[in-house]
Parts: sequence; structure tokens; C-alpha cells
Amino acid sequence: MITLHEKIDVNRPLHEALRYLADFRTAPEWGHSIAAARKLTRGPVANGTRFEVVCRHPLGRLSVHYTLTRLDEAGVISLHGTNRYFSVDDLIHLSETATGTRIDYRTVFRFNKPLCWIEERLRGGLEETGRMSAQRIKRALDDHLPAPCKCRNSERGEKLLLPAVFDFTRFGFRHACKRFQPMSRSMLGKHIVITDASSGIGLATARRLAESGAQLTLVIRDESKALGLQRALERESGNPHVHLEVADLSRMAEVDRLVRRLRRLDRPVDVLVNNTGAPSNSRRDTGEGLEYNFALSLLSPYRLTCGLKPLLDRAGTARVINVLATGMYTQALSLEHLEAPPQGYSGGVACARAKRALMVVTREWARQWRQDGIVVNAMHPGWVSTPEAQTTWPRFQRLARPVLRTPEQGADTIIWLAVASEAALCSGELFLDREPRAANLLASTRESPEHCRQLMTTLAHYVGAPPHGRRTAGIAC
Ligand SMILES: NC(=O)c1ccc[n+]([C@@H]2O[C@H](COP(=O)([O-])OP(=O)(O)OC[C@H]3O[C@@H](n4cnc5c(N)ncnc54)[C@H](OP(=O)(O)O)[C@@H]3O)[C@@H](O)[C@H]2O)c1
Repeated sequence: MITLHEKIDVNRPLHEALRYLADFRTAPEWGHSIAAARKLTRGPVANGTRFEVVCRHPLGRLSVHYTLTRLDEAGVISLHGTNRYFSVDDLIHLSETATGTRIDYRTVFRFNKPLCWIEERLRGGLEETGRMSAQRIKRALDDHLPAPCKCRNSERGEKLLLPAVFDFTRFGFRHACKRFQPMSRSMLGKHIVITDASSGIGLATARRLAESGAQLTLVIRDESKALGLQRALERESGNPHVHLEVADLSRMAEVDRLVRRLRRLDRPVDVLVNNTGAPSNSRRDTGEGLEYNFALSLLSPYRLTCGLKPLLDRAGTARVINVLATGMYTQALSLEHLEAPPQGYSGGVACARAKRALMVVTREWARQWRQDGIVVNAMHPGWVSTPEAQTTWPRFQRLARPVLRTPEQGADTIIWLAVASEAALCSGELFLDREPRAANLLASTRESPEHCRQLMTTLAHYVGAPPHGRRTAGIAC
């Protein structure tokens, strides 16, 4: 039998430390030798919840199945883990201190008969692992991480273009994962609005954020899909606060109605995820005289965010996250053709231009809204296998299949921007895999400050005075 015993003090309320430690999915963030962890049972983390934890050891990897055997809100957590070689019992006592919480963490390993002989050889290594894990728990829960900055390798890669392309693949994600920091900030009670949440990256984001205990508003265009999804999310996460809003965001009248409904609910918005942007390959009119890609990928997030600004203001420290795409790197801001020209139409180019403009809007909002406590950032999810991408780019998706990311990997940076404390230390940046990256890879795509100002004036005009010269109730921005 080997017993590890560590005591640490953290600057966090007891209930937050308890919630973080009881959810063993956080174990890779602090466990010195833990590579991965997942929850095996549905519903909230409670007595009986089971986890699979994958540990690294000198000869490979080993999976341990844990059951949460006691979760007492007063400050006790116990877990029992088994594996073919050993069993492990974790007993964690938490008590309040003047500045936060004291954590008393005891782990007992019992090796099965044929392996008893190596017990003494493992003792030193396990004790060292226990000490390092305790320090990492302290670092995770104290949550004073520095602002994210760009790695030197990424800067070099952006100059050479090719390594930057590698970064969009799942191998790029795996490489980036190695420097990911823990996310222990509590999201309980935070209100998060996510657009296009019925599939792909939006759904993966909704799943993870529902597990965090946040209150979600999911904007989905298809009502029948929405209801099934709400039930599934509530069942999986045990979070009853999943609210639905049905809206086709390519139609500005529906965006405005959505804004009015959310304003009537009068719930401050802590995080707004503008995930909208499923491109159309052929030229289409939205029925309101607007070109589809421009309307869905640029005007709708612009109009929605402006409309929700009073609710973002009321959150105190709100975050807006705009989801961009690769095509943006090839396009400069085109004020003359903000809506694609009637001749020589390409859906890919129209969508890429809309995303380029959304990057400019991200920077402008970040500057204008700094005083209001609103942080605005953009992110690129990498190349992700999603239903929409398979329909829009079938050849690319077929060829690139071996290197595509999962929706969960694509959603990771959205979740980090929504949750991590240090993510709020940057505003107006473009992130890939939790790292600020260049928004322009080609000099020809750089925009002048004058162009940026003109874009904001043009978009404000669209908000106040919709197309065809028909004035409808505008939304103040
Ligand atoms: N996949 C990639 O490789 C990739 C790469 C870079 C950037 N992105 C960006 O990531 C974001 C999400 O893309 P994704 O690939 O994950 O797409 P996706 O989820 O597979 O599909 C698009 C989502 O948008 C919804 N949608 C489409 N048109 C809509 C409309 N008019 N009003 C409301 N909702 C609408 C769809 O709803 P239905 O379920 O009703 O169809 C679906 O939920 C987009 O902004 C995209 O530009 C994706």
C-alpha cells in the first residue's frame, strides 16, 4: 500500500474548489501523469458518476476507471478507482480559511498480488507525482495565469505560410494542446448566447458549456431540431438551463425579432458566441434584397451584437467571440463589394470577404467597447469535419479527411475564450488554439485605419436603414 498526502491553500471559495476537483474531467489539467479524462455517465457530477482517466507511465498508457463515491457540499470528495494492476482511493477534505480554501488530498494505492513486489520501487515516483499534482491544483485554482502571447515558432510559421497551414489540422491541435493551461473559472449562472448551435462547432461548444453549469441560450433555425437538442443537452449535462431561440439569421427581420425577445427577457449576456457563417456556394438573395453570405456571415453577427449591447453592458465584464474562417486570409477588405458583385460570383470569396470584414469589426468593437468592460475577440477553429463543411467543400473535406479536426477540437478555443480568466486580458485579437495569431498572412490583405472606419460607417447604415431604402426600426449600436 502506498499513501500520498498533500495539503495546499488556494484563493478560491470552497464551493468552486469542490466543483472543480469533483469533476475528474479536469484531472489532465493538474494530474502530473494524466493524459486524458472523460465522464462515462450522463447527468450532473454527483455520487455515482463514473470517469475514465488515462495515465502516462514509462512504458505507455494505462486507463483507470473511477467512481465518485461521495460528494458532500460541506467539503468532502471521495473517489474509488480500479485497474487490472491496482486500486486507488482518493479522499479530499476541503475547509474554509480566511482567504479561501484548504485542500487536504490523500491518495491510497493498493497493488494487486502479483505486482506487490514493485511497490517499493514505485513509491518515490508516486510521491513526487503527488507533490507536483498538488502544486498544479494550486496553480489551477489560484487562476492567476498571464495574458496569452504568441509563440516564436508561430511567428516563424506565419511568415513561411506552410507551417501555418499545418496548424489548422488536427496535428496542429495536438501539438498546441501541450501548452494549454487549466481553466478553473466557475461558469455557474453565467448567461451564454450561441448562434448556429444545432450542429458542428456550435453544438460542440454548447455541449461543453452546458456541462460547465452556465445558462445557455441557443439560437437555432429549425424548431424541430431545436427541441430534440435541448432535451439531449439537458439529459447529458444535467443542466436544466438550456433556453432555445428559433431564428433564421440570414434574415435581418428575424435577427431584430430575436434581439427584441432577448431584450424583453432582460437577462444580462456574459458571453455572445457569433458562430454564424454556413456559406452558400451559389448566389442567393435572402428575400430582403441582401446577398446571402454577406447577410449571414457579417450583417447578422453585427446586427445581433449591436442589438444585444445593452445586455452585454449589464453583465459588467462581457465577452464577444466571433468565429472566422480560412478564406479570410486570402481576401482584403472590399468596401465596394461588401455585398458580392452581381457578376463573377463565388460563394467562397463572398464568405471570405464577410469574415475579413468581421475581423475588422472585432478590432473596432474591442477598441470602442474597452471602457464598457466588453472584451471582443475572434477565433479560427482550424479545419473541422462538420456537416456544413462536408456540404459546402465536399472535395476538400474528402481529400483532407485524415487531417481534419473533430468539432470538439474546433470548439476548444471558443470555450477557452468564454471561460478562461486570462482570455479576458486580450481584446481585438484573432486566436487559433488559445494563441493570438496574425489576422493577415499576406501584406496585400492589410486594411488602412480609414478603410476600417468606413466599414463601421457602412455597417451602421445597414443597421439604421435596411435595404431598398425602406426604413424599419433600427437597432442602436
Ligand atoms: N468546419 C470548418 O472547417 C470551419 C473552418 C473555419 C471556420 N468555420 C466556421 O465555423 C462556424 C461553424 O461552422 P460549422 O462547420 O461548424 O458548421 P455546421 O455546424 O456544420 O453547420 C452550420 C450551422 O449553421 C446553421 N445555419 C445555417 N444557416 C443558418 C441560418 N440562416 N440561420 C441560422 N442558422 C443557420 C445550421 O443549422 P441547421 O442545422 O438548421 O442546418 C448549422 O447549425 C462557421 O462560422 C464557419 O465559418 C468552420
